[in-house]
Amino acid sequence: MSVSGDLAAAPLHPLTRAIHWFTVLAIVVLFIAVLVGADLEDPAQKKPLIAVHQSLGLSVLLLNGLRLLWRWRMPLRSLIADPLKRRIGHANHLLVYTLLAAQPLLGWLYVSARGREVALWGLPLPALIAKDRELAEQVHDWHALGGWLLLALVGLHAAAALYHHYVLRDGVLRRMLTGRP
Ligand code: HEM
Ligand code: HEM
Repeated sequence: MSVSGDLAAAPLHPLTRAIHWFTVLAIVVLFIAVLVGADLEDPAQKKPLIAVHQSLGLSVLLLNGLRLLWRWRMPLRSLIADPLKRRIGHANHLLVYTLLAAQPLLGWLYVSARGREVALWGLPLPALIAKDRELAEQVHDWHALGGWLLLALVGLHAAAALYHHYVLRDGVLRRMLTGRP
């Protein structure tokens, strides 16, 4: 796998990189917040952590919308020459995009169905559905499943990026970090 000629001249725009790394940061912190928060008994300690989880999750939804609009204006030119590997990478990205949209929406649905307020950094948002405890339990299960599926996918994705960097020694990760392969 080599990076040459035309492809080597395919830089990554700073906005593409900013959206990517802000999303990564948000996902890492929102997982920590919910994992720490879930074990706490005291609501005074638990509530702010869950609020951070929600706000970061909703920020991921906004970032993902921005990413898709941006991708439409500025397509990502792959550095991967092998068509099969490129297709696998694209399929993984597509699944990740879908989960990055579905997961916050499921969280929002869950909190609405519990009859609790959803807020984005203190700004109250409308409920998506009316209170329904039974549905809330189901949606919670989907939200949990989606969360762990997303984690598995991005784990594979990060492992692939590290493989490109340390084993194939191409510019795929360097380009996402610095803009140039
Ligand atoms: C990318 C976005 C998100 C991811 C990856 C994510 C992931 C998760 C995960 C893994 C859990 C733990 C599930 C379990 O095993 O019990 C969870 C719980 C939860 N999430 Fe999210 N979430 C996201 C966005 C949201 C949003 C936007 C909201 C609300 C607006 C939300 C509300 C909640 C709530 C209330 C819980 C349950 C916490 C508890 O057990 O008390 N999530 N989320
Ligand atoms: C929560 C974690 C992550 C998510 C949600 C995520 C998501 C994505 C998405 C959607 C893309 C497609 C490009 C775009 O639309 O911006 C992408 C590309 C990329 N990601 Fe991640 N990523 C995550 C973590 C990581 C990590 C930890 C690394 C490095 C170890 C990494 C390295 C890369 C690289 C190198 C590309 C460019 C691939 C190419 O040029 O085809 N990502 N990522």
